Amino acid sequence: MTSYVTRKTPGDTAWFTRDRFGMFIHFGLYAMPARHEWIKSYERIPEDKYDKYFKYFNPDLFDAREWARQAKAAGMKYAVLTTKHHEGFCLFDSQYTDYKITNTAFGRDLVKEYADAFRAEGLRVGFYYSLIDWHHPDFTIDMHHPRRDDPDALQQNEGRDMRRYAQYMRDQVTELLTNYGKIDVLWFDFSYPDLNGTGDKAWMKGKGKDDWEAEELLALARRLQPGIIIDNRTGIEQDIFTPEQFQPTEWVRHKETGELVNWEACQTFSGSWGYYRDEQTWKSPEMLIRMLVNTVSLGGNLLMNVGPTSRGYFDHRAEAALKVYADWMKVNSRAIYGCTMAEPEFTAPADCRFTQSLDGKRLYLHLFAYPFAHIQLHGLAGKVDYAQFLHDGSEVLFSEGKMEHFGEALPEGDDLLVLNIPPVKPDCLVPVIELFLK
Ligand code: GLC
Repeated sequence: MTSYVTRKTPGDTAWFTRDRFGMFIHFGLYAMPARHEWIKSYERIPEDKYDKYFKYFNPDLFDAREWARQAKAAGMKYAVLTTKHHEGFCLFDSQYTDYKITNTAFGRDLVKEYADAFRAEGLRVGFYYSLIDWHHPDFTIDMHHPRRDDPDALQQNEGRDMRRYAQYMRDQVTELLTNYGKIDVLWFDFSYPDLNGTGDKAWMKGKGKDDWEAEELLALARRLQPGIIIDNRTGIEQDIFTPEQFQPTEWVRHKETGELVNWEACQTFSGSWGYYRDEQTWKSPEMLIRMLVNTVSLGGNLLMNVGPTSRGYFDHRAEAALKVYADWMKVNSRAIYGCTMAEPEFTAPADCRFTQSLDGKRLYLHLFAYPFAHIQLHGLAGKVDYAQFLHDGSEVLFSEGKMEHFGEALPEGDDLLVLNIPPVKPDCLVPVIELFLK
């Protein structure tokens, strides 16, 4: 067994830390302007202008089974869908609002179809639910709100009541956790207690756990779905830390206690979460694989995002990115599922990463750059029973104690194990060598 122990949390994280790889899905009205899911805030779009998206929303090519098939093929084991994002539009048939998908031309409960289809493919089902709501009449105007620059913003806040909004959230979370079967992840987003206005906006306050009445909200969720995994973004710590749009360089630790924690990096294929037509910063295939490997090699999960088009399908760039994962995971998933950071005694050589199976028996060497002829592994002499490339199960020969080269003994060391690898890189973005430990 590997030796890492993480801080205890209330949810059932055992499956989560085995499965490692999930799909984030950001879908909403913002897929129509197709220039970032924060567009209503960024462009300070008033309600009546934003309404045209509601009016014409119709993802007629949406097919939940197709989404699920692509997620599964990519090697993803769970998914998290935005049931409501900051714009406030609900993808489910809520009885507490008219601002919902069943009132659009589309007319169907997309959350229901998603949950059924993903479950049918054997994937676990998660819900993202935005704490922020730029449509709800009781959500007070703050520094993120689209109305923040209105001269009468302060007056507009009169009569807005966050207590009523907190009740609305509890009502909707009750619907989400009651009407859609077993839900494995609940992903709240997000708190900003320190983002207070300045100058003539000094009255604008950030929002955090007290505004959401987070304690009650969380207790409700736990009561309805006891084993569910919940993120920490209500402002009250739950099961998972969620570094976003950056790559941690070590296993994430608890700030106060220093304990290792369960963490899940969330990342995008390109710069935004919602479908962004003209955004060009699509990550390279190598980078996509490296991000997954880097994450698992530091004991984390990767939640990789897709922003479907407003017609309801994954555009060709997203499909291509998913295919990169599908091709790699098809032959290398053993180095990801049920794997974690390698024991501290194993340090990966330059341009490589290690992952290790949770039972401790297999070590996976991921080659980010493909070296010539030999890979020297210190600390592994006498410990490896058999070595092979993972993608094709072909043997990798090795010597121990020294590196034999034309009768000459090059670097030596009792602890040294030297892998002999072919001069040509296997046809695999990041080749993996599987080391069966004694
Ligand atoms: C953010 C953004 C958001 C996105 C989320 C995903 O905090 O507000 O648009 O949904 O991160 O992690």
